[in-house]
Amino acid sequence: MKNKTNLQRRTLLKYAAIGIAGALTYPSWAKTEGFVSVNRPSADFFPDVEIELTMNTAEVSILKGEKTKVWKVTGKVIKGTPEVLDNNEGTYLAPTLRFKKGQKVRLILNNNLPAQSILHWHGLHVPSNMDGNPMYAINHGETYIYEFEILNRAGTYWYHAHTHSVTARQVYSGLAGLFIVSDEQEQALKLPSGDFDLPLVIQDRSFDGQNQLVYSAHMMQRMQGFLGEQILVNGRPDFVLPVATRAYRLRLLNGSNSRIYKLAWDDGTPLTVIGVDGGLLEMPEQHNYVMLAPGERLELWMDFSERAVGTELNLRSLSFDVASHGGMMGGRGMMGGGMMSSVSTLPSGSNYPLLKIKVARKEQGHDVLPKMLTPITALQIKHAANANNPRTISLSMRHMSAQLNGRSYKMDDIQPDEIIPVNSLQVIEFDNGFNGGMHGMMNMPHPMHMHGEQFQIVKREINSHSGDSYASVSSGFIQHGWKDTVLVMPGEKVTVLKPFNDFKGLFMYHCHNLEHEDMGMMRDYLVK
Ligand code: C2O
Ligand code: CU
Ligand code: CU
Repeated sequence: MKNKTNLQRRTLLKYAAIGIAGALTYPSWAKTEGFVSVNRPSADFFPDVEIELTMNTAEVSILKGEKTKVWKVTGKVIKGTPEVLDNNEGTYLAPTLRFKKGQKVRLILNNNLPAQSILHWHGLHVPSNMDGNPMYAINHGETYIYEFEILNRAGTYWYHAHTHSVTARQVYSGLAGLFIVSDEQEQALKLPSGDFDLPLVIQDRSFDGQNQLVYSAHMMQRMQGFLGEQILVNGRPDFVLPVATRAYRLRLLNGSNSRIYKLAWDDGTPLTVIGVDGGLLEMPEQHNYVMLAPGERLELWMDFSERAVGTELNLRSLSFDVASHGGMMGGRGMMGGGMMSSVSTLPSGSNYPLLKIKVARKEQGHDVLPKMLTPITALQIKHAANANNPRTISLSMRHMSAQLNGRSYKMDDIQPDEIIPVNSLQVIEFDNGFNGGMHGMMNMPHPMHMHGEQFQIVKREINSHSGDSYASVSSGFIQHGWKDTVLVMPGEKVTVLKPFNDFKGLFMYHCHNLEHEDMGMMRDYLVK
């Protein structure tokens, strides 16, 4: 194991714009008793906030009765105020971290797990060697030191394990948490804060008779993606949220391995969307339902001031059709009755509740939803370096392979079309069988994610065969704002504009269906 990791790091140094000083010789510098750091803190980096995060095995109470064995990240503030860290004690969730734009942070990651692992900061614009590429996985007993400045605008970001071929299993075991950034522009809006600014992490899990997590990765589960039988919110089943009669800011993260949600309030109240992956929109948008794929975030404004104490409201996932015509799998009919019936008692695309809200007390809020949130400059194709020559990433899935442009993930395998000039704007198209899928291809939605800076969605195009199923999801896409993950439906092509500023080196792009990612639907790009 050790040798493999050494080799991986050495390989990466070939590409790293800023090498890790001393990575080849493994200095025995150790910050924490018992852990040996594979890299050194920089002498000229003066952190505003310093946090030590330790990954460990743990037992938490999720269901009644026996405790559940999980993998838990626990944090300790070394420098900074206590509000930067909430350990989410008693749950498997990794700590919620709260930073301000412009802060310099040092995160000291200790691995006390019986396996290799590494954490990635999803949605953050950080140097390549601070991004948690699987090449940087550390062994039990090792420490990785991350140092970076928070360059992102205010938003609901997150972090999770990104270990080669076992990301799905590690995230499922608990290695994921929220990374919330605030900034002055956002603070000036005086949105509901404190107890009225609530993160809601939505995940699905299956348990055995002893209350232990079940993760099966049989062929079918991997092709479709693992679907748990029970919805957990913030690590809890049957989640009930007591609220006061005022407005709330709800921050939703789909932290599930593969499950896609079609979110709606069950009394027909439209969802008021104020933010997406990369922070607030320019102005609020109303949708009857919103699609939320793995990796995506959504910020909602919800005002309970007109509701009577004692009333209830549910957030549900509504039914939708994930298959395009001619698809081999993924359709509800097939999963509900036929060959997929053993996969989950809660099929993808069925109708089920996610969480219950109870209006519990009266409170005067005086909250007014701002008409304008934060200004966003729309990126323009004509400013892209490849304005007339979009980079196409075609998504394909067949038999046991899930590929991007016909290639599976491989370390140290940058192809010419994966090299991107630093400080350029690029047009990128994710093509999910838009130009007629190849024979034998499985039609599935793929939530496509790119590391590094956030992108903007330019357009969505759907081919003529996919209209009917597409109609069951299409008004649930948010086209505005900054994104790092976009759901690409069967038969669809999504064009995005993404800047590649500041940092050279390797960054990843992949499907955020974690089983697909582990099956190889992931590649590195090299910014140089
Ligand atoms: Cu959230 Cu590379 O992923
Ligand atoms: Cu990411
Ligand atoms: Cu996928």
